[in-house]
Amino acid sequence: MAPVPPCRIAPSILSADFAALADAIDTVRPETDLLHVDVMDAHFVPNLTIGPPVVKSLRRHAPDLYFDCHLMMDNPGDFLDDFKAAGANGCTVHVEIGGTDDLIAQMRALGLDVGLAANPDMPFEAVEPFLDQIDLLLLMTVFPGFAGQSFIADVMPKVQQARAEIDRRGLTVALQVDGGINEETLPIAAAAGADTFVAGNAIYGADDPLAAARRLRTLAG
Ligand code: DX5
Ligand code: ZN
Repeated sequence: MAPVPPCRIAPSILSADFAALADAIDTVRPETDLLHVDVMDAHFVPNLTIGPPVVKSLRRHAPDLYFDCHLMMDNPGDFLDDFKAAGANGCTVHVEIGGTDDLIAQMRALGLDVGLAANPDMPFEAVEPFLDQIDLLLLMTVFPGFAGQSFIADVMPKVQQARAEIDRRGLTVALQVDGGINEETLPIAAAAGADTFVAGNAIYGADDPLAAARRLRTLAG
């Protein structure tokens, strides 16, 4: 795979108006590298959001956009083919649920980009064995479930550790952070080595979401 650019912005539609998702996507399109789709199952996290039918509709609306589906689910394996059929480009599953080897194999077989996520309290060692097999490592900077939470800076040593190991092995794994990313925290995560930034409230909570996304991009350094 090609090297990951130093700063990629992934607006999270979780903070957008669900009655106007197509408009929400179009508004920030010029600053969108990946569209982050938060899928929550009310089991792995205490919230319930959207699934493959919504991805399918959005795909019809935006044929060329990269859909980065963050699956906060206990049983993502039962839905990976549905996400692929709906038009997902990449899916990210959580290491906490176990069965990671099988899920990675399933995603690869479907032709999905492979993402692996870890909650703030998971040590780097939990994801380290999979680094060679994935396209994206998501180190959560909040406990997943809701937009608008505060960035947990204690995750930064883990981001540094991941960056060092990715570089040491010469891998092209994207290093994504998600949760509480804004103009103050993005530079902190970038300095620690993250290259892919999810932002919900910082973009869709702003008066001018496109300008907010543009400002975030300039802050990666
Ligand atoms: C949190 C989700 C995030 C969330 C980020 O559980 O995985 O993607 O939408 O929202 P902000 O940027 O508002 O923290
Ligand atoms: Zn997310």
